[in-house]
Amino acid sequence: MDRIVVTGGARLEGDVRVSGSKNSTLALMAAALLAEGETVLHGVPKLQDVETMLQILNALGASAAFDPSQPDTVRIRGDALSRPEAPYDLVRKMRASFLVLGPLVGRFGFARVSEPGGCAIGVRPVDQHLKGLAALGAKVRLDHGYVEASTSGLKGGRVAFDVNTVNGTQNVMMAASLAEGETVIEHAAREPEVIELATALAHMGAEIHGAGTDRISVVGSKQLQGITHRVSGDRIEAGTLLAAAVITRGDIRVQGVDPVAIDATLQKLREVGAEISVEGDTVHLCADGPIEGVRVVTGPYPGFATDMQAQIMAVLSVAGGSSIVTETIFENRFMHVPELRRMGADITVTGPTAHVRGVPKLMGAPVMATDLRASAGLLVAALAARGETTVNRVYHIDRGYVRIEEKLRSLGASVRRER
Ligand code: EPZ
Repeated sequence: MDRIVVTGGARLEGDVRVSGSKNSTLALMAAALLAEGETVLHGVPKLQDVETMLQILNALGASAAFDPSQPDTVRIRGDALSRPEAPYDLVRKMRASFLVLGPLVGRFGFARVSEPGGCAIGVRPVDQHLKGLAALGAKVRLDHGYVEASTSGLKGGRVAFDVNTVNGTQNVMMAASLAEGETVIEHAAREPEVIELATALAHMGAEIHGAGTDRISVVGSKQLQGITHRVSGDRIEAGTLLAAAVITRGDIRVQGVDPVAIDATLQKLREVGAEISVEGDTVHLCADGPIEGVRVVTGPYPGFATDMQAQIMAVLSVAGGSSIVTETIFENRFMHVPELRRMGADITVTGPTAHVRGVPKLMGAPVMATDLRASAGLLVAALAARGETTVNRVYHIDRGYVRIEEKLRSLGASVRRER
């Protein structure tokens, strides 16, 4: 099992380019199942989660693989699908596999996908996904841990989500793209990953209006065509690198990201004291002044991203004052707190709220990664801690960040990976 060893203290300086968006990639790979012919995705990050999704697509009978002649390109042929069942042993490795449900029901009128079950950060039910498919006429039932959905042909319908769900919105959009007539999704998620999927589905031949708002209309098509699409830069990786620059009082430029997609993070880092300017797909951040304590409340886009909560908490743990961090999306997303406290952070958690009293310096320590973004938060903390920090179970980080230690080292950090 790999671990990452960081010696804190170096200021991060220089330019770094983010990899392709993990969460956009996973939805786009699922969408390829809707299309006849080949879908080509460029700018795909080489991540464990992408490998898992490739395995699932191939298990369904699609042919999906990285193009050996182009390192960041994935080619998927959805026209040879043979079995509409996504197996438990693959789905349990990655919840986003559940995104194949909508495409399979839309394309074949039947799907059997393992119910994803919870994960470290929460119960994560999929009731809204099922509510959406039922609104399109699918018969949905739970059978020994598998969700089975069947239909003689999806019909456009109206679904009003009870909670804001990114993958739920995406699943229903994909099914609706092959449903007969118009589907209206009320209380749709507005995340950039929803907008990017809508762009791809429209390119495939569906008619979509309102992506990015909380009301999305989809007029399905009888058949969708494969497309070529370049995946957008990973906005959470960008936010993570910017947080690392703030905690080390650095000066970096992050390239390849849509600044609008991380505007809440940029605003919050400005409140913390960073100077940030934006030009095209590049964010320039300079943080040589003091770090101020602030109030953070995570929320659905365009609010502050829950996927950035651990990283900003690491920054606030060495702020000049106190901060309050409230997590409103997931019920158990403070697992970085006990590990930050072992590094000397002064944080107390009461329900969904963490009270952070800034300390002058954190101390390096052996810490345990528990989930993807908690691990990213620990890395951010380690970069400014006194001495050496070893982050164990680094496979959590590798799920969402491509060679993060190389990116940090290229910015001047003292960090290495040990087998
Ligand atoms: C997506 O997960 C992302 N994953 C998550 O990123 C991200 O944290 C999350 O959106 C919120 O932004 C991918 O896109 C692969 P939700 P998703 O459905 O869609 C509840 C990362 O680190 N809910 O928006 O699964 C749910 O329990 C990952 O990259 C229901 O109650 O999240 C949660 O409390 C972590 N019923 C809230 O809604 C449902 O049917 C938001 O979940 C669906 C969700």
